[in-house]
Amino acid sequence: GRQLIEPGDFTVAELESIFELADQIIADPGAAMDLAKGKLMASLFYEPSTRTRFSFESAMMRLGGRVFGFDDPNTSSVSKGETLMDTAKIISCYADLAVIRHPREGTARLFAQSVPGMPVINAGDGGHEHPTQTLTDLLTIRHLLGSCSGHTVGVCGDLLFGRTIHSLVKTLNRYPDNRFIFISPKELRMPEYFLSMLPEGSYVETDSLDDVIGDVDILYMSRVQRERFVNEEEYIRLKDVYILDRHKMKRAKDDMIVMHPLPRVNEIATEVDDDPRAVYFKQAKFGMYVRMALISKLLGVAK
Ligand code: CP
Repeated sequence: GRQLIEPGDFTVAELESIFELADQIIADPGAAMDLAKGKLMASLFYEPSTRTRFSFESAMMRLGGRVFGFDDPNTSSVSKGETLMDTAKIISCYADLAVIRHPREGTARLFAQSVPGMPVINAGDGGHEHPTQTLTDLLTIRHLLGSCSGHTVGVCGDLLFGRTIHSLVKTLNRYPDNRFIFISPKELRMPEYFLSMLPEGSYVETDSLDDVIGDVDILYMSRVQRERFVNEEEYIRLKDVYILDRHKMKRAKDDMIVMHPLPRVNEIATEVDDDPRAVYFKQAKFGMYVRMALISKLLGVAK
């Protein structure tokens, strides 16, 4: 079975074909109603989630499929010491497709390698990758800005630990003419290894959101993630370093968009939510449609 563990597992042409299918589903959701009828999806969340889990589960149900999983991973036999590899083999006896989120990097790949015949989707593995968030983000950009090329993208917040950010930047770099402005405190800069993979001249770094907010077509905000910090004091010092509010938005272009994978903590004031440029709730809805398209492709049921 085809598996999606990181966005690089799919070619740009394959990504585009998922977006085209998502477009068709958005235009006519009724036509997709029975695509996954009789199929079962295992929903394995070893780390908290609202959007990813429920958008996957609602996507499967909207396709006419069914879902099982656990509400608390401690109620599975992992708590008795069962390995992830064995868990994967067992799940493959029962489900047609598995979605897995886990706090440890590399877990989704390990799970997928244990069941090569089964479609497996990484729903986020520690600080590593979150490929379906990237699909969500790109579908949002395509819909609202016309294409995924030729944008100046401000990426703001936790660039060190942000798996969402890493997957997004890598993927937008596969489309032509995107430029990045990385906005972070020095403690949360993009990792050196990551910067070294980017084309020369494709990015600049700054610690000032005010200085660059007027230059961006997309402002991608992110949460400083408490769960990734070893030192609580450092988290407290950095958590509110960027707060996007109505005052800051006055300096932004009229046709720019503000994105955020959510959940947010303080980094976007709720007063910004009514600004037509704030698209993060729309983005979460695009997440369901793109997952409907992805599930249909991986199950081989897309028309
Ligand atoms: N964007 C995202 O992954 O949200 P959840 O952690 O709520 O799934």
